[in-house]
Amino acid sequence: MTLENSKRIMVVEDEAITAMNLRASLEDMGYVVTSTALSGEEAVKNAANDMPDLVLMDISLRGKMDGIEAAGHINDQFNIPIIYLTAQSDVQIMNRIKATQPSGYITKPFYEKEIHFVLEIALDKNRIEKQLKQSEAQLKEHREHLLDMVNDKTAELRQANEHLKQEIKSRITAEAELMRSAQLAALGELAAGLVHEINNPINGIINYAQILLNRAAEDSSERDIAERIIEESSRIANISKDMLSYVQGSSKEKSPVHIHTVLSFALSLTEPQLTVDGIELIIDVPSNLPPVIGQSQQLTQVFLNIINNAGYALNKKHNRTHTDKLLKIMAWETTIDNKNHLRISFYDRGTGIPTSDLNNIMKPFFTTKPPSAGTGIGLSISNGIINNMGGKITVYSVENQYTDVSIDLPIISNKTLA
Ligand SMILES: Nc1ncnc2c1ncn2[C@@H]1O[C@H](COP(=O)(O)OP(=O)(O)OP(=O)(O)O)[C@@H](O)[C@H]1O
Ligand SMILES: [Mg+2]
Repeated sequence: MTLENSKRIMVVEDEAITAMNLRASLEDMGYVVTSTALSGEEAVKNAANDMPDLVLMDISLRGKMDGIEAAGHINDQFNIPIIYLTAQSDVQIMNRIKATQPSGYITKPFYEKEIHFVLEIALDKNRIEKQLKQSEAQLKEHREHLLDMVNDKTAELRQANEHLKQEIKSRITAEAELMRSAQLAALGELAAGLVHEINNPINGIINYAQILLNRAAEDSSERDIAERIIEESSRIANISKDMLSYVQGSSKEKSPVHIHTVLSFALSLTEPQLTVDGIELIIDVPSNLPPVIGQSQQLTQVFLNIINNAGYALNKKHNRTHTDKLLKIMAWETTIDNKNHLRISFYDRGTGIPTSDLNNIMKPFFTTKPPSAGTGIGLSISNGIINNMGGKITVYSVENQYTDVSIDLPIISNKTLA
């Protein structure tokens, strides 16, 4: 047996001669003796330092700690197998010995052969126990690995499920969207036909009323009635004209549109009146903003309506000039859902909109204005135009404080332009 794989034994024996003999016998048998301790305390200390493969332990020792107590500590702390060597064999001692779960027991006087035999059996048993523990640990590790794999697969499955749910949801939305646009297209055709049919008789009514007006005496009630007929019929003509331009517009070709240009044009039409009304205009719309895709004519219509709405709300709140009588128009680039957008904000400090009306203002024919001032189709048409451009109108407002109408429009990427 070579020294490297020799088993390392620690001897605990308070009789020096017995200890010496024991060491000599063990070395003869091919074991390495790590130390010979005389007391229980020394035994615990040496075991910690040397970590022998086995301890041969005498029971009655010098000092306070006897062999059974020392064996208890060594077993608890280092899990090193113990074989007792003793002349004592009463029942009480036997019970204490059992509690320390020893690997063997040799009574004094002993023979070399007997020691060899008991040691080999104990060492072998220990080796098998260690292997068993190792296998158990491996088994546990495999089981945990398997459990991890099952958990990973379950998480993957859950994710795939979630993905599938999202997919189903987006398909349902896309289908609904498709149905809505098909309905809108059908409605558009219907509206276009209707508008053509309405325009001719309306023109007739206006012309006849004009004849009556020309024939009526100054300040007569007939004149007044004829004027009202013309006024109300013109309103119908305007509504149908608006509808026609929207319906025709949505099918026309779209092209890159510069917000700055469209706004300048809309302002050239509205600014004179705003100035007369004492409304301060603050414009912050850089001319180098990237273009959006659509029709400038339609976008002009949207801006005109929003500016007119703001002007109306400001005039209603302040009949003269006031520091708060202002309309601020700003535009900047922003990101929505990771896509580049332009935001155009129209902010006025006019009447604001009551919370109860906020959900209705986009609905066709919803208006809080007298018939001579509005028909309630401006925002619904604007909303249709902006949606058609892939954008969105959001209205933020606090009654008596402010209204902010914000338009988000997707920016055309360079790729699309090329
Ligand atoms: N800036 C604003 N401040 C306060 N109220 C507003 C503002 N913009 C819109 N509204 C409210 O929303 C309603 C609907 O607006 P919309 O532009 O659709 O119709 P309208 O202005 O009443 O009529 P039309 O635009 O057809 O002449 C308005 O009647 C008004 O009550
Ligand atoms: Mg309006």
